[in-house]
Amino acid sequence: MPPLLKTINVVKEYDLGDVKIQALRGVSVEVNKGEFLAIVGKSGSGKSTLMHIMGLLDTPTSGEVIMNEINVTNYKEKDLARIRNKEIGFVFQSFNLLPRTSALDNVILPLKYSDVPRNTWRKKAEDMLNMVDLGNRMNNKSNELSGGQKQRVAIARALVNEPSIIFADEPTGNLDSKTGREITDLFSRLNEQGKTIILVTHDEDLAKIAKRQIIIKDGLLNGE
Ligand SMILES: Nc1ncnc2c1ncn2[C@@H]1O[C@H](COP(=O)(O)OP(=O)(O)O)[C@@H](O)[C@H]1O
Ligand SMILES: [Mg+2]
Repeated sequence: MPPLLKTINVVKEYDLGDVKIQALRGVSVEVNKGEFLAIVGKSGSGKSTLMHIMGLLDTPTSGEVIMNEINVTNYKEKDLARIRNKEIGFVFQSFNLLPRTSALDNVILPLKYSDVPRNTWRKKAEDMLNMVDLGNRMNNKSNELSGGQKQRVAIARALVNEPSIIFADEPTGNLDSKTGREITDLFSRLNEQGKTIILVTHDEDLAKIAKRQIIIKDGLLNGE
């Protein structure tokens, strides 16, 4: 089977006026369906930049991004947004939930931008919250939840459109180690159920829960 997602020689430069920063210096990576991949590296090594490009949140300065055998490198933001909404779920360190909004409504939000029929939104969101063991907190506002609960809402939100890939950028960075462990166990469970997961972290121990690790250093993958 061809890879689900692939980058070819991706370079990303940030132009800061006087200086240019090369955050990625030619990264080629392939992700297969059903994989649990960790992208590991120190702070500033280029992990988030790579994740943003692989997740179609940003475009490379040069190189190519191929998703489901389609070269999306030169797609316009409107078309990238459509693919993102359908195919990709994101989980961030800072949860990025709407604070005064219920867990349920936070999870419903991405459905509003999809072509999923409106009369199924509530049921789908409830199913996802049950799956992350938050069935009893659905009507709480997200600012009434603990960090671990917030991250589980974020995971439910990332899953609700049934994306092909989940990206998680330092998802346990704001959690204590026990709660962090519960979140990583949840990713393992989701991967066992067939989800493709890409975990981005500076924490080498945490990365061990993934089935494959790639190391990024100064914008290059190990061995390149
Ligand atoms: N929007 C930006 N503008 C300028 N420089 C950036 C931007 N985003 C990241 N960088 C720089 O690119 C490099 C890689 O950053 P990043 O991908 O965030 O690394 P990591 O996630 O591994 O900590 C760093 O030197 C960082 O300062
Ligand atoms: Mg980062």
